[in-house]
Amino acid sequence: MENKITVRDILSAKNKRKLTMLTAYDFPIASMVDKAGIDMILVGDSLANVVLGLESTTQVGMAEMLHHAKAVTRAVKNALVIGDMPYESYQVNPQECVKNAKRFIEEAKCDAVKLEWFEQCLEVTEKIIQAGIPVMGHIGLTPQTAEKIGGFKVQGKDAQAAQRLIDQAIALEKKGCFAIVLECVPDKIAEMITKKIKIPTIGIGAGVFCDGQVLVINDMLGLFERYRPKFVKQYINLAPLIQKALEEYKNEVISAQFPATEHSFTIKPEELDKLG
Ligand code: KIV
Repeated sequence: MENKITVRDILSAKNKRKLTMLTAYDFPIASMVDKAGIDMILVGDSLANVVLGLESTTQVGMAEMLHHAKAVTRAVKNALVIGDMPYESYQVNPQECVKNAKRFIEEAKCDAVKLEWFEQCLEVTEKIIQAGIPVMGHIGLTPQTAEKIGGFKVQGKDAQAAQRLIDQAIALEKKGCFAIVLECVPDKIAEMITKKIKIPTIGIGAGVFCDGQVLVINDMLGLFERYRPKFVKQYINLAPLIQKALEEYKNEVISAQFPATEHSFTIKPEELDKLG
């Protein structure tokens, strides 16, 4: 546990080095992300879309999120693990927010939670932080309330909307958040926010001036083919490679090329003889 990254490390990285964050939802991928030295792993509610095949992140609940968060924390030795609070856990039931945030820490062994901006965001953030749980904010495009903010679109494109984002970031910093995700925000607005607050900004579709970056792992590995937002850089396209391996397996089973001798177990001939 010597190299375990803490909230304090994330805060002190501001203006010194860029921060890295990726999502993960299971043991094998979380192990690899951790071994790569990524600072923060988000067990994102993007689980709904990229793993569970659902249409909206509002369709995952505490049970699914905790199940996946537990698999991730079993794998991770160094990265700070952040549990993404699902819609039902604080927006549908604001009075349950502390109880649910505690479940991410106590049951799933996460180090912090993340919340998206919504009307009661500041009250909920305050309560969770007062309970001793570190909170990462999330402003800009907030998928849990996308219909209310005009859909899956870049946010803060006029001065008034941009000012609202700046005010939200300042308010979240005042409440004690340790970092804020900026999703789909013009790069110059992300830069203004980054300069105005003392806590790190983590961008996704928010340009290069943020203090750090996050991507959904299935997007950057080419494991999610339904749609690809403009801000995603695909570092490898795994889906066709996996497809090819699956078809090769099918063909080798059909043609009895698999399993070969090296994949099979043997019995001594004398033992076999005893069976007549
Ligand atoms: O759920 C998620 O993956 C997220 C990231 C896009 C930041 O919230």
